[in-house]
Amino acid sequence: MMPSARPRVLSMRLLISLSTAALLILTMVAVYGVTERHARRAMRQELETRLLLEARHLALLSTDALLSEFPELTLCPIVTSLLETRSDLEFAVVLDHDGIIQGHAEIRRLGEPLSELEDLETYPALVDLEAGESLLADEHRVAARVPSRHVGGQTVGSVVVAKDLAHITAALQASRRQIALLASGLALVGTMAAFILTQRLLAPLDAIRQGLARIGGGDLDTRIPVQSRTELGLLADAINTMTHHLKRIRAIARAREAEVINTQREVIHTLGEVVENRSRETGGHIDRVALGSALLGKLAGLSARQCELLRMAAPMHDVGKIAIPDAILNKPGKLTDEEMDVMKQHAEIGAHILSQSSRPIFRAAAIIAAEHHEHWDGAGYPAGLAGEDIHVYGRIVAIVDCFDALTSDRCYRKAMPLAKALDIMRSERGTHFDPELFDLFLANIDEFVALCETTVPLRGDGELARADGALSETEPVGVPG
Ligand SMILES: [Fe+2]
Ligand SMILES: [Fe+2]
Repeated sequence: MMPSARPRVLSMRLLISLSTAALLILTMVAVYGVTERHARRAMRQELETRLLLEARHLALLSTDALLSEFPELTLCPIVTSLLETRSDLEFAVVLDHDGIIQGHAEIRRLGEPLSELEDLETYPALVDLEAGESLLADEHRVAARVPSRHVGGQTVGSVVVAKDLAHITAALQASRRQIALLASGLALVGTMAAFILTQRLLAPLDAIRQGLARIGGGDLDTRIPVQSRTELGLLADAINTMTHHLKRIRAIARAREAEVINTQREVIHTLGEVVENRSRETGGHIDRVALGSALLGKLAGLSARQCELLRMAAPMHDVGKIAIPDAILNKPGKLTDEEMDVMKQHAEIGAHILSQSSRPIFRAAAIIAAEHHEHWDGAGYPAGLAGEDIHVYGRIVAIVDCFDALTSDRCYRKAMPLAKALDIMRSERGTHFDPELFDLFLANIDEFVALCETTVPLRGDGELARADGALSETEPVGVPG
């Protein structure tokens, strides 16, 4: 099964840093928006106050002149002087009660209506106005109109003083630039601070992630070295405790598993020995077949687990012989055809007995019991399988079992010298035995001989027989070992 593609990982450091920067900028923008609204209102209020004061002062100065025969002679110098001293004023003008200009800095405008008022509209003032006073404005300027009253309260004209709003706009723009600069600086510092802080906070998380990866890989000795007293430290402690318990549970499970396997091994070995003793075979036959099969399996490139299965299962290759009558099993002479047919039944009987269990060892043992007398050319029994249709376990045990049978004492003959046994086995290469496995066996014969010598003595003196000897006719090569 192909592993699923790993989802793209987003950096928490980056996410938190960028979120902090965005939050700071949004906060600054919001604060600036509120601040600017208040600043604009305050500046406008101050402007209106000063404008009204200027207008009221001019109205007071203009009253007497408006009642004179030539008001412009007095009013023009007054207006001109005012504009010279107050450069922030856009214009100042004195009107008679008909709205005609009587005082203006430009002489040519005298006698005209004030056209500048045409585009201005009255707007709600932020300061208190007196009777007759009004404030007018468009987007560029604000103007205050104040009546000129005679001492008796009679209105004799009015004055209009205007200021443009450019300086307010300029001040606000300058403020906006400063705020933007400040916001950028704060966002940068805040982002860096968030990045560093996040890195410190997430360092334990990295240690936990790496530790969990090792634990997931089976390393239960892993301890996550997180000293932080934060929730992450508590999490690391909890994981360490969990890992400790997991290790203990795994050790118990392994011990129980080993116990089960050992029990199976003992049962198998005992069964094999029962058969071995009953058929009066040379002591240690099943041990030599077990070790020799595992060795040949290893030479053939089988996995360590398969070799171990072979070693544990091979002792039961002849377990079916428990159903063979003693008269046939231990007959010293040649078996009749009928007796041989009975003897051959041990393969199927053994396979049947062993197939009652689903344990891997018993499944392997059932295969070996069923197929250790099959021949590479299909002339074997019980199924007449050929070539690689015979399980490799069966092909391996066939070679090792035959070798040990030939070189061990039997009830029907004495052990055969090594050279003679190998000559006989060579003649069966490609007919009885898998040729490749047999070549491997032959190429490493010294190892098999050494294995037999160190396992159980084949003869009383502990040496493998090397003298010439005759193979009993009662047992074809490879038949019950
Ligand atoms: Fe057999
Ligand atoms: Fe055998």
